Amino acid sequence: MFEDLLEAWDGEEAVIRFDADSGAWMFVCVHSTALGPSGGGTRMRVYPTPADGLADGMRLSGAMTRKFAAADIPRGGGKAVLAVPALPAGDARRKLLLRYGDLVASLGGTYRTAGDMNITPADLDVVAERCPWVYGTTARGGNSARGTAIGTLHAIHATLENVFGSPALDGRRILVQGAGAVGADLAAKLLAEGADVLVADVDEQRARTTGATVIAVDDVIGTECDLYSPCATGGTLNADSIPRLRCKAIAGCANNQLATPEDGERLHAAGILYAPDYVANAGGVVQLVGIEDLGWDEGELQAGLAKIGDTLRAVFAAASAGGLSPAEAAEQLAMDRVAAARA
Ligand code: NAI
Repeated sequence: MFEDLLEAWDGEEAVIRFDADSGAWMFVCVHSTALGPSGGGTRMRVYPTPADGLADGMRLSGAMTRKFAAADIPRGGGKAVLAVPALPAGDARRKLLLRYGDLVASLGGTYRTAGDMNITPADLDVVAERCPWVYGTTARGGNSARGTAIGTLHAIHATLENVFGSPALDGRRILVQGAGAVGADLAAKLLAEGADVLVADVDEQRARTTGATVIAVDDVIGTECDLYSPCATGGTLNADSIPRLRCKAIAGCANNQLATPEDGERLHAAGILYAPDYVANAGGVVQLVGIEDLGWDEGELQAGLAKIGDTLRAVFAAASAGGLSPAEAAEQLAMDRVAAARA
């Protein structure tokens, strides 16, 4: 099964280690180093089979290549997966993370990690005891939600501008799905700019603390709004949900919003303007690489985050000019940059 996945993959290398002490499989997937060393979070999860973990790492590392390339950040795409039999705690967790740190260190900086599902800044502190290639440790400012929220706000402005002729939020109805680290921060920013904000979260208390109008989780798809901002989980845009959407545009921070590539075309055909997720949510990596690797100050960071809006404007313009969907135009922009660097 690993053989089939590796043969079919367009990435550069996958490093596979079985950790006998914990029963975990470690997969480090380096999709591309054409633009620079690869970067991407480490995800810890229980998968049905180890091959599902490898497949997840491969897919997500390809998305990181596109995210960095579209954001014009000199890094390639990578992702790591710790496919565990059960989520470890205490000393077993610490020892697993130390051994994982040794593995990442052995790659000499080809892959640089950050947090992802079930990996906290405190976990990254442990990895960093063994490895210098770690973004987002507590000492370096923790997670990237702040940059992601600001970048998503720029994406929302650029998307509204394209649909309504003005980026202004005043009086616009924005539906935020997920009031977590990014969604709650984003909702506060939208409210501050005068938007009529609706929020849904499976944890209703979280939704309530935003101060926005709370709606039921099951009502997200089907509620009328100017812009829908998916900030919870992936796959919310699919063959079933798209015909039921009652929004004019979509721009949010969730990864992998389209269930399949065809859903980008479905949105286009439905007349809904879609800001490709990896363009809209690049603020997190812009923050981590900008501050921790490139030595940016706050002003440079804010300029880097504002570029997300400019990139989207370029994507929308290329889509209109070429008769493409924004998803196709973003793919073209990102992969052209990678191909040019390779050449
Ligand atoms: P989080 O875990 O802090 O927040 C997610 C929120 O969504 C939680 O409050 C959860 O209760 C809620 N939720 C889960 N399923 C839901 C559903 N079906 N309907 C409504 N609410 C639901 O995560 P965070 O950091 O805010 O990230 C949100 C999304 O953005 C995730 O998909 C993440 O992968 C993505 N992302 C986050 C970045 C970051 O810097 N934190 C960077 C790029 C992408």
